[in-house]
Amino acid sequence: MLVSSVLSALGLASLAMAGQGEVAERQTQKLRIMPLGDSITEITCWRAFVWDQIAAAGYADKVQYVGSQNSNPQNCKPNTTNWDEHHEGHSGWLAIDIANNYLATWLKNTPADIVMFMLGTNDVVRGHTTNDIIAAYTKMVNIMRAANPKMKIIVDLVIPLGIGSSSGITALNARIPDWAKGLNSTESPIVIADCSTGFPTSDLRDGVHPNLAGDQILASRIGPLLLNYIRESLA
Ligand SMILES: *[C@@H]1O[C@H](CO)[C@@H](O)[C@H](O)[C@H]1NC(C)=O
Ligand SMILES: *[C@@H]1O[C@H](CO)[C@@H](O)[C@H](O)[C@H]1NC(C)=O
Repeated sequence: MLVSSVLSALGLASLAMAGQGEVAERQTQKLRIMPLGDSITEITCWRAFVWDQIAAAGYADKVQYVGSQNSNPQNCKPNTTNWDEHHEGHSGWLAIDIANNYLATWLKNTPADIVMFMLGTNDVVRGHTTNDIIAAYTKMVNIMRAANPKMKIIVDLVIPLGIGSSSGITALNARIPDWAKGLNSTESPIVIADCSTGFPTSDLRDGVHPNLAGDQILASRIGPLLLNYIRESLA
């Protein structure tokens, strides 16, 4: 009251009202969730099945997926026909390149409150070391927090490879828990979705990408953590 009367005495009433409008807008804005990754995010159905969990929990009109992409390449048919197909999954892309050259711009163009990511498979296939991939993860978290100091982050343990050697994936997954703990914070939490344990290579349709059963495993590991974040954020 005091502030607004001082402002109107200064002829700044409209400025004060614009400020109030911004607050109202922020309160009605949907919670923004970025599914970030490679082809295991782009040409798969787990994000559709996670949307089913969002809808079943009653949050479909309160949240949105965000990203530069808006596609459903696998023609996924979740229960919810009008699921949000936005994402930041890029087939064939490396964590290292995304960290160094792309993520900052993506988060500027489509800001997010929650990022959930699985990355590293292409880095492993191209022979990059676990150290280099973990360094890219750290860079990504720094970029996320620079974009939004309260970013809530879900990092996935990477699904196994059914072709070639899985040792690089195994080594990466082994590093993720300590890495995540080291960067964890109350303001910007990091939780791990274990998409690796108990994921059989027989649930890969082509040695790399999950089939329907594999997508359901991913959704069952990622969805509950995302719903926790959504509940906390909307509380
Ligand atoms: C989708 O529908 C099937 C069949 O009705 C049901 O078993 C399943 O639990 C539903 N999934 C979600 C996440 O609501
Ligand atoms: C990060 O901290 C939260 C509690 O603030 C906890 O629930 C979560 O498990 C922690 N993450 C890791 C990777 O330890």
